[in-house]
Amino acid sequence: MSRHSVGLIGGGQVARAHIVGFGNIPLFYGPLQTAEVKTVAEATDALASDAASRLGVPHWTSDWKQVVSDPAIEIIDVLTPTYLHKDPAIAAMEKGKAVICEKPLAATEADAREMYEVAKSRKATTLVGFNYRRVPAVTLAKEMIASGRIGRIQHVRSHFMEDWGGPNFPLTWRFQAEKAGAGALTDLGSHALDMVRYLVGEPTEVCGVAANFVPERVPSGGSKPLRSDVDDLTVAILRLDGGAVAEVSASWVSLGRKVQLDFEVQGTEGTLYFSMERPNELNFYSAGDPKTEQGFRQVYFGPSHKYGSSLLFSSATMGTGYVDSMTNQMRDFIDALEKGTECAPSFYDGWRVSRIISAILESSRNKSWVAL
Ligand SMILES: NC(=O)c1ccc[n+]([C@@H]2O[C@H](COP(=O)([O-])OP(=O)(O)OC[C@H]3O[C@@H](n4cnc5c(N)ncnc54)[C@H](O)[C@@H]3O)[C@@H](O)[C@H]2O)c1
Repeated sequence: MSRHSVGLIGGGQVARAHIVGFGNIPLFYGPLQTAEVKTVAEATDALASDAASRLGVPHWTSDWKQVVSDPAIEIIDVLTPTYLHKDPAIAAMEKGKAVICEKPLAATEADAREMYEVAKSRKATTLVGFNYRRVPAVTLAKEMIASGRIGRIQHVRSHFMEDWGGPNFPLTWRFQAEKAGAGALTDLGSHALDMVRYLVGEPTEVCGVAANFVPERVPSGGSKPLRSDVDDLTVAILRLDGGAVAEVSASWVSLGRKVQLDFEVQGTEGTLYFSMERPNELNFYSAGDPKTEQGFRQVYFGPSHKYGSSLLFSSATMGTGYVDSMTNQMRDFIDALEKGTECAPSFYDGWRVSRIISAILESSRNKSWVAL
């Protein structure tokens, strides 16, 4: 049996999903691998002690450097606001730790690149939290595209649209460019861009429009509106190596869209469509079907697919969801750590997505195409 000890840096919203993700590994995959979260670092003593009790973590500290230097901790999991990813992640790699870091990798491309360079020189095992890659229907889409099932890819549509970010949503770090990098584009669009790279290939050129509809927001508990200087909606067009064209949108002001991380990949032999609002279904159209039977069919995720052992019952459509993608992600990371193999998406992928984000923002500012 292998046991791996984990230290969390940051105990906010996404920390809950990581705790469930680590905790479910033995339930989903058998008791031979476990990852125990031993400690959580937060910004202050009060926040740290509260996070430890909410998350069920035995130790806490308000100094992340203590966690990173603790020889008993093998994996550092960075879950702070985006501008605070770089320092703990680099310090952890310099101490020889394996590092998981939430997406986007950093608030600037320069920081993301530095993190990737340290990972490369230290040969660190790293993972950036593009967890939707491990929703089984998404993994299946990747396998079908890679095996040529829908032919040569011509057109990709990849979106991440939600509807919580209207003018009544309070100001947090997410609405400040220096802390978040950008707005909907970094928060949601980073996942949509990762989908394009993961499913089809690397962008070579981008053109985008980043729009701010809510220039001021009131912080929680405050009364005075402060500046919100990030995009609430970004739309981009990308040329991909291999010739395909992609459209990407990210928005938190799309009324009625709850977690519409969706994509459609159209090839010369067929089309695939997925939406995270229906995570156990992959829609598949094959031009090879008899003319009288043509139409989209729904493929239901089940035990015969990758990650099928994560199903609690052996029926297709009994389903997995967001937190299960976290368990699959943590388990694959631990597997890579044990076997000494590459883990993806790594800090390299995190840096590439940050590079694309910065090019889209540049394109929007200058009203021009930007080469990558
Ligand atoms: N993959 C996903 O699905 C997903 C979902 C949500 C958030 N995220 C990413 O996770 C990161 C965190 O997002 P969140 O929603 O949990 O934010 P959050 O604001 O809820 O939590 C961040 C926590 O970090 C703490 N923190 C601040 N400074 C700290 C310091 N110096 N040391 C330790 N802790 C400190 C804050 O007090 C807060 O509790 C972001 O990068 C975000 O983009 C990813």
